[in-house]
Amino acid sequence: MKCTRCRAKAAVALPRHNAGFCPECFLVFFSRQVEKAIKDKKLFTNQDRILVALSGGKDSLALARELQNMEYDVTGLHIDLAIPESSERARGHVIRFCRDYQIPLHVIELEREDLPIPKLKKFFKRPVCSVCGQIKRYYFNRFALENSFSVLATGHNLDDEAARLFSNVLRWDTAYLGDQGPLLPDEQGFVRKVKPLYRLSEFETANYSFLSRIDYSFTPCPYSKGASFTFYKKILDELEHHQPGRKISFYEGFLNRARNTFARLDQEQGKEPAPCSCCGYPTTTGICGVCRIRKTISSRTTASQPTFSRT
Ligand code: AMP
Ligand code: FES
Ligand code: ZN
Repeated sequence: MKCTRCRAKAAVALPRHNAGFCPECFLVFFSRQVEKAIKDKKLFTNQDRILVALSGGKDSLALARELQNMEYDVTGLHIDLAIPESSERARGHVIRFCRDYQIPLHVIELEREDLPIPKLKKFFKRPVCSVCGQIKRYYFNRFALENSFSVLATGHNLDDEAARLFSNVLRWDTAYLGDQGPLLPDEQGFVRKVKPLYRLSEFETANYSFLSRIDYSFTPCPYSKGASFTFYKKILDELEHHQPGRKISFYEGFLNRARNTFARLDQEQGKEPAPCSCCGYPTTTGICGVCRIRKTISSRTTASQPTFSRT
């Protein structure tokens, strides 16, 4: 197969684009997809201070590198979940990446917040990954606001977004459907949240990281085995295999034709956020999810005040 752009030998085949690219042209293709996402959805401009949530995996490191190449103002934030072995490894990848590419980095340690994930696992019946997700989102938002970042960017890719949409549709979870998308504007105590990789698949971000020689962490979360998301991703992969382009049309079709309807529905139901009565950060439930987590475990442990460290 020949490269669609320059006719050299292609290294990456992309059936959904009916195209193949040599390594150099693949990197150009990748940049254009990110640029298109930023411009089409008006995610941010060169005036914004962007905090990129860095897990140490291929997606978030690829995102930070690409935004840096595009000369955006980028700073990294890593949350150390205190999971034996995997957290230390992930943090090491993030620290080395930021050192090598000279990206400022902040690290929040959940151990110091008295919220280490292995400890929380014992207190909750629901999957600990959902507790973890809630805590990460809380600290992303809080750190961004307290440190004057105008945008919080995550490395969610097309596979993540399509699987989430599939899951929300299966449950007809209208609140989540109204809230899903590559841009959540800043409002009432929430920083603007963006997902500039939403047009790129996991395969494409893996190729980008490999071709850019980014040393990323391969270790999946040890607690996520058997998660329904993994199963949904497999189903969508199968669909994509038979009908190339199905994932992006499913997701973009939702953004263009259905999302606003669900968002309006949510507004009509009057779920306006108000400050959490414990920590002051916004919630629709009186006390926010993280303060409720703290309350649940406070009978056995004493919650400490948040402290942020810079590396
Ligand atoms: P995941 O939910 O693990 O697929 O991660 C989705 C995105 O959330 C990643 O691409 C990162 O941008 C961000 N993220 C996940 N875990 C962390 C972490 N421990 N620290 C900082 N950002 C994270
Ligand atoms: Fe954090 Fe599984 S515990 S993602
Ligand atoms: Zn709170």
